[in-house]
Amino acid sequence: MADRKRWTLTAQLPVTFTLHASDRLFEVGHPAFLEPAPASGPVRRLVVIDEKVYALHGEVIEQYFLRSGVEYKILPIVATETQKDLDTLMTILGAMETFHLLRQSEPIIGIGGGVLLDVVGFAASIFRRGVPYIKVPTTLLALVDVSLGVKTAINHFGNRNRLGTYHAPAAVFLDRSFLGTLDRRAFSNGLAEILKMGLLKDARLFELLEVHGPTLIDQKFQEGVALEVIDRAIQTMLEELEPNLWEKSLRRTVDFGHSFSPTIEMRVLPELTHGEAVALDMLLSCELSHGRGLLPEADLTRIRRTAAQLGLPPYHEMFGDPGVLWESLADTVMHRNGAQNLPMISRIGACTFFNDVTFEEVGQAAARLKARQHAEG
Ligand SMILES: NC(=O)c1ccc[n+]([C@@H]2O[C@H](COP(=O)([O-])OP(=O)(O)OC[C@H]3O[C@@H](n4cnc5c(N)ncnc54)[C@H](O)[C@@H]3O)[C@@H](O)[C@H]2O)c1
Repeated sequence: MADRKRWTLTAQLPVTFTLHASDRLFEVGHPAFLEPAPASGPVRRLVVIDEKVYALHGEVIEQYFLRSGVEYKILPIVATETQKDLDTLMTILGAMETFHLLRQSEPIIGIGGGVLLDVVGFAASIFRRGVPYIKVPTTLLALVDVSLGVKTAINHFGNRNRLGTYHAPAAVFLDRSFLGTLDRRAFSNGLAEILKMGLLKDARLFELLEVHGPTLIDQKFQEGVALEVIDRAIQTMLEELEPNLWEKSLRRTVDFGHSFSPTIEMRVLPELTHGEAVALDMLLSCELSHGRGLLPEADLTRIRRTAAQLGLPPYHEMFGDPGVLWESLADTVMHRNGAQNLPMISRIGACTFFNDVTFEEVGQAAARLKARQHAEG
């Protein structure tokens, strides 16, 4: 039956936010967390922070708020992948409620790695249907990846990031000095996402990692080419994210390394970090490209050598099991609305998509991944 009458609504949601590379962020006098200021009375801020970051950097942060005359509450929370869940979300929402957060002029501040930023962002997006949120990444991975986009999430139903929203931050403050307290594995974790951007679209970035990777880790990203590496990683990532911020297109180059890994990462938690799982997915994907005659052997060798230098694993039994890989891909295909949309590297710095990868091909790629690992010892 035809409608008696129709009303159609169309609205647009303009988004602007700025990422400030702003070392010494918590030096007293830095305006980052003081705006917007209220017409009268003190500035009030609720700060949710990863408890490890609080233990290492809490004093400086508290001094900043104290000496800036801010009325603040700091909530340290355990922010590991296994705690990226409903309970943590509810704890943050509870703190927002008891802080009596004003709806528009008291942005909640998240300080931590990707787990913390994802769950605080989720809380900010659903509290009163959305309140402003400031992101302060403290891991390399969060600095070059998590903090750039608008995605928020928690893990649920045994799946990674199953519940989440799109919620643009009010601002992002990138302070490299936080990286000084990370361990080597945390650098490898973040370097996986940087390697991804080099492979996808920036051969120079890849070469920087190839030549300077171990030194960057030794120097905790505080010296040498660290700034160029970080800036290139951020720039290339933003170029990919900005035109498709709300993921209307599910053909996303930045999903390279995120096709087989999400399910496996959850299954083996906490054995692999996010970056390690992404790196294994990238190596498997490179085998798939190579199997189709796209990625030359010489490029594949350089990629494997560079990933190893960055401290990333060359193999894991889950990535050698075609059944597990196919099952993981099936969930990704649902996430991509029924299409594989597999980003693949055709040579270092160039990307293409596959949509017709077969179970046999995945099995052959997995077998090659395993064989190379044995051959390399
Ligand atoms: N929203 C997005 O667009 C997006 C993109 C990529 C990844 N992610 C998510 O990010 C998460 C991974 O983030 P991550 O790699 O930052 O891991 P993480 O948040 O789990 O942090 C890793 C570890 O580092 C510790 N830590 C954080 N900062 C530190 C510091 N400065 N010094 C010492 N220790 C510190 C944390 O306590 C934790 O133990 C995953 O949950 C993933 O789903 C989200």
